[in-house]
Amino acid sequence: MGFPNINGKTRVCGLFGFPVEHSFSPAMHNAAYAKLGLNWVYVPYGVHPDRLAQAMEGIRSLELTGVNVTVPHKQNILPLLDEIDPAARIIGAVNTIVNEGGKLVGYNTDGPGFIRSLETEAGFSPRGKSILLVGAGGAARAVAIALAFAGADSLYITNRTPERAEGLARDVSRACQVKARVLPWGKQLPRTTVSEVNLVVQTTSIGMSPGVDQAPEFPFTALRPGQLVCDLIYNPAKTLFLQRAAAQGAKTFNGLGMLLYQGVLAFELWTGLPAPVEIMRETLLRQVS
Ligand code: ATR
Repeated sequence: MGFPNINGKTRVCGLFGFPVEHSFSPAMHNAAYAKLGLNWVYVPYGVHPDRLAQAMEGIRSLELTGVNVTVPHKQNILPLLDEIDPAARIIGAVNTIVNEGGKLVGYNTDGPGFIRSLETEAGFSPRGKSILLVGAGGAARAVAIALAFAGADSLYITNRTPERAEGLARDVSRACQVKARVLPWGKQLPRTTVSEVNLVVQTTSIGMSPGVDQAPEFPFTALRPGQLVCDLIYNPAKTLFLQRAAAQGAKTFNGLGMLLYQGVLAFELWTGLPAPVEIMRETLLRQVS
């Protein structure tokens, strides 16, 4: 894709990460701008951790409209922001910055992106539901807090390192009126809970390419036919975890929708326009495959 029309009025958004070479976001956002005929461009910036503060000053001085933030800056960026959305503060991570005339405001669209994908792709509303999270890392944190904000009734968290699950359960319960409980990991996970929950979300990195022959230990045979099971991994498109869940008759979906909708929500924060979701999805699918 070329950018023949870049001129003095072009609005610039971007991505701060290290590295950024493999990100799908530039293609997804630039396709959206092209679709709507916007004179906007999205540029990936490899920002070394030692230069993050200068890069933040660069947003102001170069008048970038906004940036996405990815590994390893999502947490370290918090003290460098002028304002932080309450949910992003509780998550403790920011993936989207809006430049409001020099005031840098941080949001987290990962968790809300997951909720939007649940609602639109799986037809599932979390309100009043019980959900089991496998894992308690950064991705689980964004998802758990967004689910709590979206009105989930109970969250069960299981993690190899129980202390991390305890910490997440404590933070979620403190922030929202949701029952969050820690369950044992692996073979000890109670089969009754697995059968009873409305949704299971696999959030660990186990099974991600190139380790596609791995899956977390999990009592798959306790799953019910038709039960909803998600794996946040999208490469491969169907992890071993999802394959085993599908073999029990579960309805499965992956994390591509979360990736798509975190971008959709960032697009909407920056432009104030409804995002062209289908072109963004098609672009992502082309990148992933
Ligand atoms: P992310 O931001 O992708 O969530 P993370 O914060 O490093 O990454 O979290 C990784 C998650 O995968 C954690 O839940 C981690 O479990 P621990 O807290 O016990 O480390 C989980 N994980 C990664 N490799 C694992 C493995 N081999 N077995 C079990 N859990 C694993």
